[in-house]
Amino acid sequence: MSALPVPETHTGLDSPAGVWWKPAHRAEKLWVGIAFGWCIVLFAMMPLWHLKGGQNPSGIRRRTDAAAFYKRTQEFIKQYQVGTDRGMPVVEPPPGSDVYLAGMTFQWTPILRLRQGAEYTLHISSLDVNHGFSLFPVNVNFQVVPGYDYGLRVTPTAAGDFRIICNEFCGIGHHTMVGRVIVLDSAGQEIARSGEAR
Ligand code: CUA
Repeated sequence: MSALPVPETHTGLDSPAGVWWKPAHRAEKLWVGIAFGWCIVLFAMMPLWHLKGGQNPSGIRRRTDAAAFYKRTQEFIKQYQVGTDRGMPVVEPPPGSDVYLAGMTFQWTPILRLRQGAEYTLHISSLDVNHGFSLFPVNVNFQVVPGYDYGLRVTPTAAGDFRIICNEFCGIGHHTMVGRVIVLDSAGQEIARSGEAR
């Protein structure tokens, strides 16, 4: 009488049949090594970019509230206003001064006239909800959160007529929330926009 064939059983405790446990090929080890090395590089970039990258806010940040910031912005406008553009005050603060820009649904107040090569401390805050400060066409982006006064040290490097686009959805008029920054050249001259008589 012959024994019945024992069916092959398998549990998770046994190694599965196959060749997967053979030592890795040299090429595979090399790739794992390269990937690990790249992980270390990327990891190191986080602190390095924080210390050496040019994108960090200057660190001036304090609590404020909408009423106080609005009041400060109005004082700033009163002090340095040089004109009006479609009802919006145009303000030309002297180089080195503190500049105030308020974001609110759905406008940026006031219009700024700055001088190329001069340094300013640009205070930005929102009077209501989150807005995004995006300077077009250059790549400057900043989150504008209500309740905080952000002081950014800025030095305009190019003369021209720039737009501040809101890049944070803030309501029904979000797409109309466009501000303006005019940068005069180092001689104090305004560069006329193309297609516009001045
Ligand atoms: Cu402000 Cu979108």
